[in-house]
Amino acid sequence: MNHNIAIDGPAGAGKSTIAKKIAEKLRVIYVDTGAMYRAMALFLLRQGIDPGESEKISEKCEEAEITIRYENGEQVVLLNGENVNALIRTEEVSNMASGSSANPQVRKKLVRLQQELAAREDVVMDGRDIGTCVLPDAAVKVYLTASVAVRAGRRYEELTAKGEVCSLSEIERDIEERDRRDMTREISPLRQAEDAVLIDSSDMSIGEVVDAVIGLCVWK
Ligand code: DC
Repeated sequence: MNHNIAIDGPAGAGKSTIAKKIAEKLRVIYVDTGAMYRAMALFLLRQGIDPGESEKISEKCEEAEITIRYENGEQVVLLNGENVNALIRTEEVSNMASGSSANPQVRKKLVRLQQELAAREDVVMDGRDIGTCVLPDAAVKVYLTASVAVRAGRRYEELTAKGEVCSLSEIERDIEERDRRDMTREISPLRQAEDAVLIDSSDMSIGEVVDAVIGLCVWK
């Protein structure tokens, strides 16, 4: 039986940081599902499609072949064979991904891929609908969140450390808008699965959150 770990939560809650550390400690594969939605968004942008053009998105998404490879333990996302890791973290791609991830065809295609990965080996997978839809039978489900102020503050620190000039209030507004879109979309909205454990990391260190999740993995 697979021992999969599902981590869902809003943008900026620290899901990928935590999931990577858990993957290292438990020696399982980390699957970043957001990166798959981002690769699809990049494909659609390259086709000249706008986030609101749902019919075109449904039609064109079938032409995108998204696969995952691991290099030195890092997930590499391939879009029709091209490594797009370095191209999917822009604002433009984030905005497109937020719109195109609400599309049923896009979700169907990527959920299938995610389920195939988790059926092959033990994974820690993060996203928005992992516990509710992709892996309903995951051994451990976590809903990781933090206050908007804390999430915006972390993002602000991250960007200023990279030398980028940004506004904290704009980041806060952006996070609120993304939360609203992710939580109110019709298909697989972001919500806590009934059997998920809620972890609010607002006042917790990374190590404390990692220990809390590992504490739930009773088979280890
Ligand atoms: O986690 P992220 O910011 O990299 O995700 C990018 C976008 O994809 C975001 O708008 C939410 C969406 N997403 C989703 O709908 N379902 C997932 N399982 C993962 C991400």
